[in-house]
Amino acid sequence: MSHKIQTLGEFIIENQDSFKYSSGELSRLINSIRLAAKVVNHEVNKAGLVDVIGAYGETNIQGEDQQKLDVYANDKFIQTLTKRNIVCGIASEEEDSFITINSQDEKNQNKYVVLIDPLDGSSNIDVNVSVGTIFSIYRRITPVGTPVQLADFLQRGSEQVAAGYVVYGTSTMLVYTTGAGVNGFTLNPAIGTFYLSHPKMQFPEDGTIYSVNEGNYFDFPEGIKKYIKYCQEEEDDRPYTSRYIGSLVSDFHRNMIKGGIYLYPKGSRNPSGKLRLLYECNPIAFIAEQANGKSSDGYTRTLEVVPTALHQRVPFICGSKNMVDTVEAFMQKFGE
Ligand code: AHG
Ligand code: MN
Ligand code: MN
Repeated sequence: MSHKIQTLGEFIIENQDSFKYSSGELSRLINSIRLAAKVVNHEVNKAGLVDVIGAYGETNIQGEDQQKLDVYANDKFIQTLTKRNIVCGIASEEEDSFITINSQDEKNQNKYVVLIDPLDGSSNIDVNVSVGTIFSIYRRITPVGTPVQLADFLQRGSEQVAAGYVVYGTSTMLVYTTGAGVNGFTLNPAIGTFYLSHPKMQFPEDGTIYSVNEGNYFDFPEGIKKYIKYCQEEEDDRPYTSRYIGSLVSDFHRNMIKGGIYLYPKGSRNPSGKLRLLYECNPIAFIAEQANGKSSDGYTRTLEVVPTALHQRVPFICGSKNMVDTVEAFMQKFGE
């Protein structure tokens, strides 16, 4: 039986009609992210050569200053989205405030804003471990043709129209949703094309992996401590195993495929949790729900949290449905 291999470009075009809003604009937006991801991937792959060809802070061959990779990734995504004039605003982990695009231009009829973590897990770069990019897309709520406002970015996660991530791993993959399931595309680096490799991704309902920075154990709420002990106990032959990369994207990606849960609770060092609601937790939560998983802060669905600031942090518990249900039950029972 012959089986047609679909590229990301073909997939975007073939599926754009299933999107309820103006689809051409969103397609162009996903296409731009695809392009920037390839450029960043190329640079991430060279990261190990930095010591050989010149350390950060020195000048590169074009006479430009070498940049840290998270700054590089930030610039590339912003440049790509700005130059092609397809969004009206961008918020990024690397920028204090949001960026308004072409606010003076009445012809800027763009309806979408993007929120982005350009390089997630950046502390892993020096040691050749997977990193990622996370993005979240909303329709603006203020009138088209006017400068974007903070309110356009502070929408609840349930209002997202699309979200995705790129994982720069042993293979580079782009995984995204427009609210009709989750699909994963793997980059063939030889020809620079993403192919549909993981159609309709789904979390197993239950899993065996728990991912948490156990170095913070004594800082965790009682409910989380009890849950970790529950995973570790031998009673009833509990099957759990611990895996923690320290790159949210990579930890989440593995857990979605194999079944598992990711936890970044609050603690005295991180009183609201560490991860950022708007460009880390919400996009990942949207993907999780679209893949039959679940995401919560321990009590409330992540996508229902009302944002109050661009760089707001929240506790984040995300993964296989039954596992997140169990953590919520532990939080109810044992609390903070
Ligand atoms: P970033 O590199 O964008 O700042 O994000 C790092 C995040 C996330 O990717 C990861 O899961 C978490 O921080 C790890 O934190 P700890 O080192 O505290 O475990
Ligand atoms: Mn991050
Ligand atoms: Mn980052």
